[in-house]
Amino acid sequence: MPEFKKDVLAAMRRYVAEYPDLVELRMGPKRLLMLHHPDLVREVLVKRAAEFPKAAPFRATLGKALGNGLVPSDGKFHAGQRKMMQSLFHHKRMEAYSRVMVDYTLDLLKEWWRNPNRDIHEDMMRLTMFIVSKTLFNADRRTMAKDAQRAADAISSNQTWMEKEFWLGFKIPLWVPTQGNRAFKKNNQILEDILMPIIEERMRTSIDHNDLLTTLLEARDENGRPMPKQQVFDEVNNLFSAGHETTANTLTWTFYLLGKHPEIQELLMAEIDQALDGRSPKLADLERLPYCEMVLKESLRLYPAVWSLAYREVRRDTTIGDYQVKKGTWMVVSPYSLHRQEAYYPDPEQFNPERFHPSKAGSIPRYANLPFGAGPRVCIGAQFAMIEAQLILIQLFQHFKIELEPNQVIKPKALITIAPENGLKIKVTPRR
Ligand code: HEM
Repeated sequence: MPEFKKDVLAAMRRYVAEYPDLVELRMGPKRLLMLHHPDLVREVLVKRAAEFPKAAPFRATLGKALGNGLVPSDGKFHAGQRKMMQSLFHHKRMEAYSRVMVDYTLDLLKEWWRNPNRDIHEDMMRLTMFIVSKTLFNADRRTMAKDAQRAADAISSNQTWMEKEFWLGFKIPLWVPTQGNRAFKKNNQILEDILMPIIEERMRTSIDHNDLLTTLLEARDENGRPMPKQQVFDEVNNLFSAGHETTANTLTWTFYLLGKHPEIQELLMAEIDQALDGRSPKLADLERLPYCEMVLKESLRLYPAVWSLAYREVRRDTTIGDYQVKKGTWMVVSPYSLHRQEAYYPDPEQFNPERFHPSKAGSIPRYANLPFGAGPRVCIGAQFAMIEAQLILIQLFQHFKIELEPNQVIKPKALITIAPENGLKIKVTPRR
């Protein structure tokens, strides 16, 4: 455990190189089983997913911030909600969301023309936050920027709190007025003050705003009943929390890798120029830009924003593959480790988008590549995130090339997501 606590990512790289099937760690009386073999991953996340729910202490901490939404909920309730939300990212809605993505990236481009020295992490956090606010509850960046920013700050501060809370052996109840608890409750109140009035207004008027909230309010369960107001609030909060920083970090790491590999940047720009001939991209263009998708997949391999899935718990003594596993063990599936297996990714630290060339489909086992998880809890926003990231990259590299500022130390910091500890400074240069 000391090694794990000192530099968790370095520890993960060592474990996966030395133990290609699985490895057990001890944390006091607790056993952590890290699964590396794709067959074991499939067994736990997909085939026998109902036997291995998210670990109870993890869900309890998540639930304090995210209520009973998709991320912390479990069992039949989770399955019912997931079913109700299956049409959330329906193609007809994605068209409208993709226009927001393109439009908002244009606003950022204007800022790049004015000031070429950027902290790209900050840029991406703001851009994805405005996109999720607009597509989720129609908060326009020009009129509701302050509220969207306050909600994003509250969520980010809650995530830091959750991270600390999760590792405390003894959980301090929320009613104890510690500094952390007070800030946490205040953040929850901020979110309620911003989101509840919007939800209540929508429930009264039922106008279609072409956003995710409209789809949540239209959803019906198998008995034809809509979601109660509190549940709608929880789901909006979950989608906002899960759907903003993840995409921002993915884009930041992609800029980092492209900054280190100008030759790959060139290939990407050539594809963009050829496919679009100077006009803005549309959703339908993406299939003609396969290299951009390959770049993103390779970036998600090296820096999967969710570097470790929520721990799953073993509820009774059992076997997984050929291994006996004790009740109470926690199972760790880490995309960060899985994506570095020499057997599937030769020279694993090398950034090489060609690994994901369509002609090589099938060479990487499905459960050795998990940037969005797998099974019944696979990321519900995966397609949205991929489209968003591609549209943003395409537009920015259509107009600018980038260089990393020299003399900065880039250190990945692994909390719930991985981000560069001190941001990422780049210089952008117009291409024409
Ligand atoms: C590149 C960006 C993203 C990455 C890398 C990512 C990754 C993931 C992963 C790995 C999980 C599964 C966690 C587990 O099994 O423990 C997950 C779940 C989830 N994600 Fe994403 N995500 C991204 C973007 C989004 C977006 C844009 C949204 C919504 C707008 C979203 C909403 C969710 C939700 C609600 C869940 C919980 C699903 C459930 O348990 O049923 N994510 N995400």
